[in-house]
Amino acid sequence: MGKIIAVANQKGGVGKTTTAINLAAALAVENRKVLLVDADPQGNATSGAGIERSKDRKNLYHALISGESVRELVLPTEIPTLWVLPSDKNLAGVEIELSESDDRGRVLRNLLVEIKDYFHYIIIDCPPSLGILTVNGLTAADSLIIPVQCEYFALEGVTELFETLTRLKRELNPSLAIEGLLLTMYDERTNLSAAVAKELRDFYGSQVLNTVIPRNVRLAEAPSFGKPIILYDPRSRGAESYFELAKEILSHG
Ligand SMILES: Nc1ncnc2c1ncn2[C@@H]1O[C@H](COP(=O)(O)OP(=O)(O)OP(=O)(O)O)[C@@H](O)[C@H]1O
Ligand SMILES: [Mg+2]
Repeated sequence: MGKIIAVANQKGGVGKTTTAINLAAALAVENRKVLLVDADPQGNATSGAGIERSKDRKNLYHALISGESVRELVLPTEIPTLWVLPSDKNLAGVEIELSESDDRGRVLRNLLVEIKDYFHYIIIDCPPSLGILTVNGLTAADSLIIPVQCEYFALEGVTELFETLTRLKRELNPSLAIEGLLLTMYDERTNLSAAVAKELRDFYGSQVLNTVIPRNVRLAEAPSFGKPIILYDPRSRGAESYFELAKEILSHG
């Protein structure tokens, strides 16, 4: 019990947070107990899951720096089986405050041990960098989803990420698996989307997930209402695609 999946890509704006929120919500609606960990100081997963920003509330920062128990920090959401471990801007300080510590890459992994078996899935939303927060996400994880936006230069970032992964697996997390590359913001009206998809599948083969996330305006609107797509517009193509992704992930066991 308790599979930890990181969602990471150092490239910005590729759909990491959209995927983390909506995969977590879709798994929760499929009756799994799910924790969404917001490991990004931007806090978009926190607000997108309906948790209001609050400077006074303790968040992942306090767990990473002061060893605060994550059990105490986890917040409920509108979906009964979905919880959030929130982030706030102060989380950015972790990059400096942990930089001297020998065990800096393993802090999140050690914190999640306490609650791992309570949840069926823990989904970690990583920031757009390969800094300490992302390294902690990848070290805590059993597997990794890499969202790739269907646009030019999509592959370049992925190659760099795989180089980092080789090093990270050697030094910190040998058992980290690739859950899959996920094509996001796919626009079937453009040749570009099809070309990027083909290039990715030619190069990475079965490491590319079957599910493709379409460009869908409802997915972009949902966070401003603090709702996962499944609550905001369950019949949209965006919602359908994240349900399909959840089924594919469940089928991996
Ligand atoms: N499938 C989609 N269709 C339409 N808009 C999307 C889709 N996925 C994401 N977006 C929008 O694109 C923007 C970037 O998405 P998102 O925040 O999920 O990316 P990110 O990789 O988490 O970004 P960052 O690197 O800043 O953390 C957001 O405005 C989001 O609403
Ligand atoms: Mg994000």
